[in-house]
Amino acid sequence: MQKEFLLQYKEYAHKNELDGESQNLLEAAIRAIDLAYAPYSQFKVGAVVLMENGAVYSGANLENASYPAGLCAERVVLSSVSVLAPNMKIRAIAISYRNEAGQNEGIISPCGICRQTIAEYENKQGAPISILLCNSLPDSKVIELPSIGTLLPFMFTKESMD
Ligand code: THU
Repeated sequence: MQKEFLLQYKEYAHKNELDGESQNLLEAAIRAIDLAYAPYSQFKVGAVVLMENGAVYSGANLENASYPAGLCAERVVLSSVSVLAPNMKIRAIAISYRNEAGQNEGIISPCGICRQTIAEYENKQGAPISILLCNSLPDSKVIELPSIGTLLPFMFTKESMD
């Protein structure tokens, strides 16, 4: 039997079409880009999370001369909140980037390892984490996904091992 997977997300032509809280989070993600250490790729990524109490934590990609030792911005910020705000739920993650080798209009979405990591946090807290994506240009469009489930169909979770 042929089956289909429905991917539902929102696209906005500009940040100012979102509510103030989401706009602030996207602006924070753009500021977080400057925290990146990306001397090898020149591809700087900022990721910020909005917690259930309104706190915002920032992260950025951290590269290494031994390339596989580098970390994506998403996993940097998620690891940080695990220890800085343990057991507090994450409401949203916003991700932006600046390609210092040449910026275009595109936006990026989390890599496969980061999708799996976001899934772990979402399943642990038992509540969805919305995902906001934009680039660092002033007129960037925005994509909003309601949950990592939309980016990771058939995800592997601890229930998979029961
Ligand atoms: N990177 C991130 O930090 N997040 C993503 O979602 C995609 C890729 C980083 C990893 C590496 O430092 C650089 O971007 C180029 O792949």
